[in-house]
Amino acid sequence: MKITYLGHSCFLVEAGGKRVLFDPFVSGNPLAAHLRAEDLRCDYVLLTHAHSDHVADVETVLKNNPEAVVVGIWEIYSYYSAKGFKGHPMNKGGWWSFDFGRVKMVNAVHSSSFADGSYGGEPVGYVLDTRDGVLYVAGDTALTTDMQLIPRTCPPLTAAILPIGSNFTMDYADAVVASDFISCNHIIGCHFDTFGFIKIDHERAKAAFAEKGKELRLPAIGECFEIKP
Ligand code: NI
Ligand code: MN
Repeated sequence: MKITYLGHSCFLVEAGGKRVLFDPFVSGNPLAAHLRAEDLRCDYVLLTHAHSDHVADVETVLKNNPEAVVVGIWEIYSYYSAKGFKGHPMNKGGWWSFDFGRVKMVNAVHSSSFADGSYGGEPVGYVLDTRDGVLYVAGDTALTTDMQLIPRTCPPLTAAILPIGSNFTMDYADAVVASDFISCNHIIGCHFDTFGFIKIDHERAKAAFAEKGKELRLPAIGECFEIKP
């Protein structure tokens, strides 16, 4: 599968012949000033939770991609379907087969509310099981032993996108433990550097993974790369 990093926790994943966008937050990201939310093209928008650094550009993206389907936990689905957008609701523990592959909604340990104060349900992560690979997108989360359920209930992961910036989520040291819990050695970092609270030392973060024989990829914003099953 092809993955394009669009900054913070926003990724475009091309798999199963479709374009799946995670947590669109481009226009408010000072590090992504060279990208435009209006230019994003996708078939699906998958949302991990309702905080504005994950959903700020959802409506812009959906308006520019009228066929796109927004996928989220029930409360997030309801929020966007009330505004007239096409959606698919899920909740934790469930799988659904989309035309690009199967998706499981899994637990995340964090909080979730929209900028206007409405309840965003609970935060989630996703496992995508596609013909082009299996990807875990953790969303904003603390390290949690629930991650140990993923290798027991999902096909072996090709790669995982984990938050590593600390303060609002786990740090890279906890992400190393998470990578053990999910039995995955190919980790892509997210939720780092965007704001002062989450600035990290890239070399130290990579070294923490390398010491355990694991790879931490810290893509540049706008960088596109391929992961192979
Ligand atoms: Ni958050
Ligand atoms: Mn966040």
